[in-house]
Amino acid sequence: MQYRTFGTLDWKTSALGFGAMRLPTLNDDPKQIDEPVATEMIRHAIDQGVNYVDTAWPYHGGASEPFVGRVLQDGYRERVKLATKMPVWLVESAADFDKYLDQQLERLQTDHIDFYLLHALHQNVWEKIHALDVLPWAEKAIASGRIGHLGFSFHDQYEVFERIVDAYDNWTFCQIQYNFMDIDYQAGLRGLRYAADKGLAVIIMEPLRGGRLAKNPPPPQVARLWATAATQRTPADWALQWLWHQLEVALLLSGMSEMQHVTENVASAARSGIGTLTEAELALIEDVRAAYETMSPIPCTQCRYCLPCPNGVNIPRVFEIYNEAIMYQDVAGARTSYQWLKEEARADRCVACLQCEEQCPQHIEIVTWLKTARELLDPPDAAA
Ligand SMILES: NC(=O)c1ccc[n+]([C@@H]2O[C@H](COP(=O)([O-])OP(=O)(O)OC[C@H]3O[C@@H](n4cnc5c(N)ncnc54)[C@H](OP(=O)(O)O)[C@@H]3O)[C@@H](O)[C@H]2O)c1
Ligand code: SF4
Ligand code: SF4
Repeated sequence: MQYRTFGTLDWKTSALGFGAMRLPTLNDDPKQIDEPVATEMIRHAIDQGVNYVDTAWPYHGGASEPFVGRVLQDGYRERVKLATKMPVWLVESAADFDKYLDQQLERLQTDHIDFYLLHALHQNVWEKIHALDVLPWAEKAIASGRIGHLGFSFHDQYEVFERIVDAYDNWTFCQIQYNFMDIDYQAGLRGLRYAADKGLAVIIMEPLRGGRLAKNPPPPQVARLWATAATQRTPADWALQWLWHQLEVALLLSGMSEMQHVTENVASAARSGIGTLTEAELALIEDVRAAYETMSPIPCTQCRYCLPCPNGVNIPRVFEIYNEAIMYQDVAGARTSYQWLKEEARADRCVACLQCEEQCPQHIEIVTWLKTARELLDPPDAAA
């Protein structure tokens, strides 16, 4: 295992962390973790030098935290830093901060959380918990030893990220979605550098874009490019090494769902290091990014000029989900993302008023594409 600097802390993190969000399950039920297999996977990773385990209140329908608590028995708790997250969207009053943390300590069978995150911050939820004095509350929890360090995970536009980083001088770390396709998405490369410059340890989530970049074989256009490399790697290894190459990355979390992922990613981490990829390899990864982008059928740049739609349709998000379904050949994953959209934001709310098309600088036939997207993402037989 390789170990890396973690912000300004006098502690080294393993390059690879274990994300307990995509554990193997039984009966197609996310709440039924296949405990014997998942236990073997996490303990094997720790035995191989992984020293960071990440979970959260909602993972596996609430089953992840109690499971991680059980896995870390028999001496494993002392060998790792444990991270979990405040479910900020459930918080209604300041008293809820203690309520959730107390339950999490109990679920995880521990008296302290080493790295505690405010989970999935976006503008509105950040404003809500900030007004409820989450920061003074967290400082008290740190002083009492129940929390080691405070950080946040993030899902919003870059500008919001910068605002949250700047709102507090004592963040130890943050967690962002980042991979070689997401350099301009959410916090992105700018956010990585901004936070690292301010001394925060930056943890990467979705390094394989939830598995989409790890498909083997990848789409033929991408496979042809990978085949030209002087050193052959799996698609997963390319994506992970690209992250570890970067100085500003503290560690990356992988949501490994089978033992083979653990053994492969542990082996990748052992070969990793800052600045290990060659110029030619970095150029090849850029070519792969461009190849994926050309597979994106709707030329939407996410500029949002088409918003607000008077009927509430979230046009850029629908197009993003549709493009991902085609680019990564992952219709099932895209349908799940589409179901997460509020009903009023979905494509079927479009009444073809054409107001949006007048605003679109890319001259996209929005109404036609919304119909196409709906047919793929929400077919009538899927609802039956
Ligand atoms: N705080 C937040 O808001 C937030 C949000 C997202 C994630 N997270 C955390 O970050 C962690 C990492 O995110 P993620 O789970 O999305 O990571 P990821 O690495 O992008 O995706 C994990 C998926 O990649 C595939 N995979 C992993 N290793 C592979 C390998 N060697 N070969 C082939 N496929 C491989 C598996 O897909 P298949 O199962 O399809 O094979 C696995 O389920 C999560 O587990 C969670 O702890 C936090
Ligand atoms: S055409 Fe459809 S999506 Fe566009 S503004 Fe009108 S209702 Fe909204
Ligand atoms: S205006 Fe056009 S390019 Fe911009 S987000 Fe809307 S659909 Fe996409």
